[in-house]
Amino acid sequence: MPVKQPRPGELDPIETASRDEISALQLQRLQWSLRHCYDNVAAYRKKCQDKGVHPDDLKQLSDLSRFPFMTKSDLRDHYPFGLLAVPREQVARLHASSGTTGKSVVVGYTRNDLDHWANVVARSIRAAGGRAGDMVHVAYGYGMFTGGLGAHYGAERLGCTVVPMSGGQTEKQVQQILDFRPDIIMVTPSYSLVIAEEFERLGIAPQDISLKVGIFGAEPWGEGMRGEIERKLGIDAVDIYGLTEVMGPGVACECIESKDGPVIWEDHFYPEIIDPNTGEVLPDGSEGELVFTSLTKEAFPVIRYRTRDLTRLLPPTSRAFRRIGKITGRSDDMLIVRGVNVFPTQIEEQILRDARLTGNYQIVLARDGHLDHVEVRCELQREVSGKLPPATVDDIRRRLQHHIKTLIGISTRIEVMEFDTLPRTQTGKARRVIDQRPKQL
Ligand code: DLL
Repeated sequence: MPVKQPRPGELDPIETASRDEISALQLQRLQWSLRHCYDNVAAYRKKCQDKGVHPDDLKQLSDLSRFPFMTKSDLRDHYPFGLLAVPREQVARLHASSGTTGKSVVVGYTRNDLDHWANVVARSIRAAGGRAGDMVHVAYGYGMFTGGLGAHYGAERLGCTVVPMSGGQTEKQVQQILDFRPDIIMVTPSYSLVIAEEFERLGIAPQDISLKVGIFGAEPWGEGMRGEIERKLGIDAVDIYGLTEVMGPGVACECIESKDGPVIWEDHFYPEIIDPNTGEVLPDGSEGELVFTSLTKEAFPVIRYRTRDLTRLLPPTSRAFRRIGKITGRSDDMLIVRGVNVFPTQIEEQILRDARLTGNYQIVLARDGHLDHVEVRCELQREVSGKLPPATVDDIRRRLQHHIKTLIGISTRIEVMEFDTLPRTQTGKARRVIDQRPKQL
């Protein structure tokens, strides 16, 4: 389903369409997407059959609530390619995100999917104030993470000059920003503050930094952080939202003129808010779990995908589409550490690779300056506790640190403790995660 791309600087006509026009387009696309998924993804067809529903039952948008959800465990169960709705040969690119254990979740895109993705990211950058000819410094990570390449192709599509810097190498980032004088930066909010500190260290004032706009996402951030970033970099800070399973960055993006929550590109992604406990659809404005159905995706259609992000659907303001409020939490135990998604079970898996360690562990998250720090506390088994030479304990610590870094992608401080040091649960449910980071308001 090709979409006409607006000329640079122009709004796409659907961005200002009436609610009736949007609903009509959504219904037509939803019927297509449901049928496409049902016909081509055996696992989803089976779910529908088990629930006694068929794509023909979808006569109006609200009928979607009768259809089964898709979850991260569906992606895990059908790893890597079991949920593709096209032959693998038609997949032009793969991306991946964290699963709850060692295996990531894998998604695919056809050429048309990549085209749509570039269009919605271009639309997002435009909403954030970007125009053709602007220079965009992309400091989201490139690779299996969708941030770097997603931002990259969107910026190219809008007609910008793209600097594919990727993450890390803060001094080089800053030098390059000083030399090239980009207008826009796309990066996680926490890393933008590390960049801002490097400018401060060099004695460069916000008004002397070329950047005008920053497009931030991949992790929760609040109005306090927005104020701090804007002040320190002398820019407008705009929120972009997305997730790998649904597409990547650009599922929704704020408009610079209102900065009142990301606008969902509802012509490609149909949102619902549900009660995370009952699965019941809640009215707009209620806090609950965000669920998305893709309307145009070919390779990896998602129907009622449970994002686990808790938020609200808000009425349209700067565009004709609805918005999401700030993400206030998750309905699962996923942690986001410097933009990397981490499940406690992934860390547990790495601890249990070493037979000398028990399954009793704690993950302590703290924020030092602007960056998250993770400490993993684990325990030696009773049989070896107190008996190992310090060098062996240190080796256990280093190995675990290395496995977590290379397989999960985060740096940690590891503490290997003697047996029975960590608190035991009295209630049956262990408290694995102690999150001491300030809450984003
Ligand atoms: O983080 C895609 C992305 C890249 C979005 C760059 C924006 C910018 P995942 O790695 O699959 O994809 O992580 C998705 O990150 O379910 C949210 O919990 C969280 N998240 C993403 N954007 C925001 C945001 C990318 N603007 C998960 N605010 C999502 C709060 C966000 N949380």
